[in-house]
Amino acid sequence: MQILHTIPAVRAARQDAQGSLGLVPTMGYLHAGHMALVRAARAANDHCWATVFVNSLQFGQNEDFNTYPRDLPRDLALFEEAGVDAVFVPEAETMYTADFSTYVDVAELTDRLEGAARPGHFRGVTTVVCKLLNIVQPHRVYLGRKDAQQLRVIRRMVRDLNIPTTIVPVETVREPDGLACSSRNVRLEPHERQAASVLYQALQAAQQRYTAGERNADTLRAAMHAILAPEPLLNVEYVSIADDESLEELTTIEGPALASLAVRIGATRLIDALEFGGDCTSTR
Ligand code: PAF
Repeated sequence: MQILHTIPAVRAARQDAQGSLGLVPTMGYLHAGHMALVRAARAANDHCWATVFVNSLQFGQNEDFNTYPRDLPRDLALFEEAGVDAVFVPEAETMYTADFSTYVDVAELTDRLEGAARPGHFRGVTTVVCKLLNIVQPHRVYLGRKDAQQLRVIRRMVRDLNIPTTIVPVETVREPDGLACSSRNVRLEPHERQAASVLYQALQAAQQRYTAGERNADTLRAAMHAILAPEPLLNVEYVSIADDESLEELTTIEGPALASLAVRIGATRLIDALEFGGDCTSTR
């Protein structure tokens, strides 16, 4: 496995990588969800590359950039074991020169949900992902469905800016109790970890109602709140039933919809999402 630190090194290795290339962009501290992205990328491409970069630009001033979990030696060992061909691990200065001043902003879609809760977050995500795509030039990019808004925002950026790559969504990997795998889960104290299982239970409650024919979005939101409210450790930031594409909150579900939520448990912020009645694999 090649470990590449500079853009010229990536460009040189990329020239040698003939055939299709699938990219798994990460901020490291790998978990089973990342490994599912790698498996999907390996299965469909001649080459599987990954990136590890904790992108300061997507963290707000009061967010956890400094304490975000990091373990590069472990990440590289896991990537190597999983058959990744090359990993790009840039220094911050490689990605952002001192006079860096160009940003990628996807409008409207980023005003809602995570965008509203974390101003500037998606501008950081789209800027770094655009740069990574320009540097690596992959045929396909593998992203998890748990970060549902991120997936839609990056897909929109790729479409709007005609970036020649295909975004491939990959199913969320869950712990046995349903908690979605996330690098931040390690921060949960044992009692917090136990409480975190209600996130998926809330999404499932909405899904059960939806499957039974309920199309009133308020009723589905209420079903989620009813599961979350009794858990005293939880601080609910939002519960959403939104249009799957625009992410606008719905009154009545008439097409593909996205159920999503964000909660704080102690110092840890967790998100999760489920899609109802659609196929998110289409390139919109
Ligand atoms: O999902 C992530 O890990 C990050 O937001 C990403 C896509 C690697 C950009 O920094």
